[in-house]
Amino acid sequence: SKYTLGMIGLGTMGRNLLLNMADNGFAVTGYDKDAKMITKLREDGSKHNLEAFASLEDFVQSLELPRRIMLLVPAGPIVDSVIQELSPLLTKGDIIIDSGNSHFTDTSRRALELSDKGLHFFGMGISGGEEGARFGPSIMPGGDKTAYGEMKAILEAVSAKVNGDPCVTYIGPGASGHFVKMVHNGIEYAMMQLLAETYDILKNALDYSNEEIYSVFEEWNNGRLQSFLLEVTRDIFKVKDPKTGGFLLDYIKDEAKSKGTGKWTSQVSMDLQLPIPTINEAVTTRDLSKYKKLRVQLAEIYPEQKPTAENKAQFIIELEQALYFSVITSYAQGLHLLWQASATYEYDLNLHEIAKIWRGGCIIRAELLEDIYQAYSTQPELEHLYADAGIAAKMQEILPGMRSVVSHTVQTGLATPAYSSALAYFDSLRTARMPSNLIQAQRDFFGAHQFERTDEEGTFHAIWNPVLS
Ligand code: 6PG
Repeated sequence: SKYTLGMIGLGTMGRNLLLNMADNGFAVTGYDKDAKMITKLREDGSKHNLEAFASLEDFVQSLELPRRIMLLVPAGPIVDSVIQELSPLLTKGDIIIDSGNSHFTDTSRRALELSDKGLHFFGMGISGGEEGARFGPSIMPGGDKTAYGEMKAILEAVSAKVNGDPCVTYIGPGASGHFVKMVHNGIEYAMMQLLAETYDILKNALDYSNEEIYSVFEEWNNGRLQSFLLEVTRDIFKVKDPKTGGFLLDYIKDEAKSKGTGKWTSQVSMDLQLPIPTINEAVTTRDLSKYKKLRVQLAEIYPEQKPTAENKAQFIIELEQALYFSVITSYAQGLHLLWQASATYEYDLNLHEIAKIWRGGCIIRAELLEDIYQAYSTQPELEHLYADAGIAAKMQEILPGMRSVVSHTVQTGLATPAYSSALAYFDSLRTARMPSNLIQAQRDFFGAHQFERTDEEGTFHAIWNPVLS
């Protein structure tokens, strides 16, 4: 009998997802160019109904029609070379599912190229890391809707569940699955940066030890801030370094790396002219961190004042509010970008479905997503999360704390780019009349770029400079 699904790429993610499928009773198989990976899968999966092939032809022939072939190989040119090798072996109607973090424009191109050959191509985001892949990730598949029917059962079975609901849904046509995963990662970057800044505040403004920071995160994680990233962050403050006996965190270089999904989110937001400043700050601050030598040099020239907060008990309450405010803002920005992309790229996204499948399995899963899911369920056309009555009530309540924390960091010179940007974004968005009329006047003054009037339709040009009249 033939296999239901085949996996190309038996690294950590591919192997664990395959084992997850086998656990759920599916007959699945794998292929990898690297013989060691095949051996590893055979060992790990010895108790499962699962095979691995060293020949691509044999692998393809072992699959039932239409073939479901998933790729979990590094994003970029490798995906193209795998497709090139694979597609001549396939039959019309077969489905290729790219589950890596591919750029969505690559996915659009590949889907078009393969549809010419009668093949379906899915761009599918998978979130949750190694543990997610093994025991239940959040899955974001985009592509042909009918073809989705061929993989729905297997994806629903392996995905994470929240209240029994699978954390997978058909996202939309084309590259929408990879687009949504990219924005998921943008939000992930923002939350990580906010937690890093929170650590900095706790350490420097409150003089908290790592143990005390652990306790603060532990307490917050029992409340409305509950999230996977807070949990992970909390646990980092417990881990000791076997080499020195100190905390491992204290021995890690303060230069952050990235693989691109956050940067892509920012790039696309600029293309779509849809502001996501807190996500941008998260991307930019990772880059800024790499200028270590320059930072050390400038720290000598511009020494910090000690940012100690006076009323610690009050400050910690406000900090929780500020973090909540900024986390809401990060989701709001990401969802607003999805709202715009849905229209521009005709993805026809269901934001409540997306919030729903982000509640479990993925890196940005959080208690807050329950509120977000409710907001978009009752108002599917909601443009911005801030406009939801429930969220607005929360924002009003925590705004004073947010202002107080950012005032403190600004006044004492403690760098909080993500926090500060979240507040600036909020204040700009709730400004009914911005000073942008002046920008238009300036543009018309020096470049005759024209402006629109508040009291009359049309475009106008004024003689601002008598020399030019
Ligand atoms: C996930 C993660 C995962 C990974 C990203 C981000 O949802 O499981 O987002 O995809 O962590 O590759 O990585 P960088 O921080 O290296 O860009």
